[in-house]
Amino acid sequence: MPRSTLHLPPPDPALPVALFAQIANAITDHIRGGRLASGDVLPGSRVLARELGVDRDTVIAAYDDLEAQGFLITVARTGTIVADLPRGVGVQRGLARQVGFALDPGPPSLHPAPEPAGAIVLAAGVPDLRLVPSELIARAYRRAMRRHAAAALGYSRATTGHPRLRSALAHLLRDARGVAASADDVMITRGSQMALDLTVRAIVRPGDVVCVEALGYRPSWAVLERAGARLVGVPLDAGGLDVAALARICARTPVRLLYVTPHHQYPTTAVLSAGRRARLLALAHQHRFAVLEDDYDHEFHYDGRPVLPLASADPHGVVVYIGTLSKILAPGLRLGFVVAPRPLIDRLARERYLVDRQGDHALELAIAELIEDDELGRHTRKMRRIYHARRDALAAALRAQLGDRLTFQVPTGGIALWVETTPGLDPDRWYRRALEHGVVFQPGSAFSLTGKRVAAARFGYGACTEAEIKIAVRRLAQCARP
Ligand SMILES: Cc1ncc(COP(=O)(O)O)c(C=O)c1O
Repeated sequence: MPRSTLHLPPPDPALPVALFAQIANAITDHIRGGRLASGDVLPGSRVLARELGVDRDTVIAAYDDLEAQGFLITVARTGTIVADLPRGVGVQRGLARQVGFALDPGPPSLHPAPEPAGAIVLAAGVPDLRLVPSELIARAYRRAMRRHAAAALGYSRATTGHPRLRSALAHLLRDARGVAASADDVMITRGSQMALDLTVRAIVRPGDVVCVEALGYRPSWAVLERAGARLVGVPLDAGGLDVAALARICARTPVRLLYVTPHHQYPTTAVLSAGRRARLLALAHQHRFAVLEDDYDHEFHYDGRPVLPLASADPHGVVVYIGTLSKILAPGLRLGFVVAPRPLIDRLARERYLVDRQGDHALELAIAELIEDDELGRHTRKMRRIYHARRDALAAALRAQLGDRLTFQVPTGGIALWVETTPGLDPDRWYRRALEHGVVFQPGSAFSLTGKRVAAARFGYGACTEAEIKIAVRRLAQCARP
């Protein structure tokens, strides 16, 4: 067996690591990097000592140490050789493929299936990214970086978000949504998903009963399930959440929290009626449960004034109100917010520090400027007109081409339309056929808490032009033929 030439770096007496340990580390690096393999013979201690300019005892100490660790063995008449190493210890040209410790499966992946290239996507509730004022955002971001470099680049104490954006959002919420919040009641998060997660961390304990809408938003369920909540579905109808059914659940069992989308119920788009809102708030106060109100697309309403959030009429502090800029601006900015009584905001800030410490203050400053200058308002008004026209185009096309296969109410707001399918049309099959024809939508069962089939489908129209909507519906009609 030939002796290996090692080309080790000479140990450095100035380093705070013993010389023998430096030599031993260099040899294990060779083994891990694949330059020394099992069976390779190492130089004799005298030779290596001369090469490295150290005492022979130092090399012997290094070899002894590696023998003790199982990397080397001494073989009579051969000398010191690299031991037979377990797989994964020796040659390692990439990262290990398996973890070497226990790992449970964790939460489900919430990413939707990838869309076929070139498909028309009537899915999710994403805005039209082609119309996002990205130049305005970029310029405001540059200004924030230049003028407020310390706030933008340093560690900050503002775990609840930059005060300027908190204040700008508080104004916006007061003016547009009737929520009497001041800056201190608002916390900025990275998207409403973080708001949801932090709130659930703060409130929900394993085994708690949490009520959710029977058809609803999967990412919220996943957060609640990870916290150990026992989810109970509350039925829905055309007036949104069935509050009488919720009252019956509360009479049976203590409820810790209700997650609800009263403005445009997700996914059915139903608006929770005024009477039910009042009853819901009274019920929460009576049974002392938290109402996590997710108001994800408040600004897009087309017929008259919007119904105000639960948070605008909550004297008892039961509502935790969360919102997002994902629909009025862009989801990739990851900007959301929570409005809640201050003890909860303080608590959320402490929870946030553990995972994220602070947000992107340059972005927060940039968006604050766009709100203060009414640029966000202008963009929202423009998009509301566009989405209104798209909603009408979708409704007209569906009526014309699929009127006998579907029933639906034209939604008063939002950027999605919910349809119920007639018995001859299986939405899951329809979805698969449409996918093959380059149209993506969501079958009703995608929103079902129990996983049961739902004879319905949801079409998000925000991201498609009227022309794209017409093409999509034509294809959908072809795919719906028996
Ligand atoms: C019900 C609901 N809540 C919240 C959001 C927005 O989430 P985020 O603010 O994390 O982008 C969405 C987006 O699709 C949604 O449908």
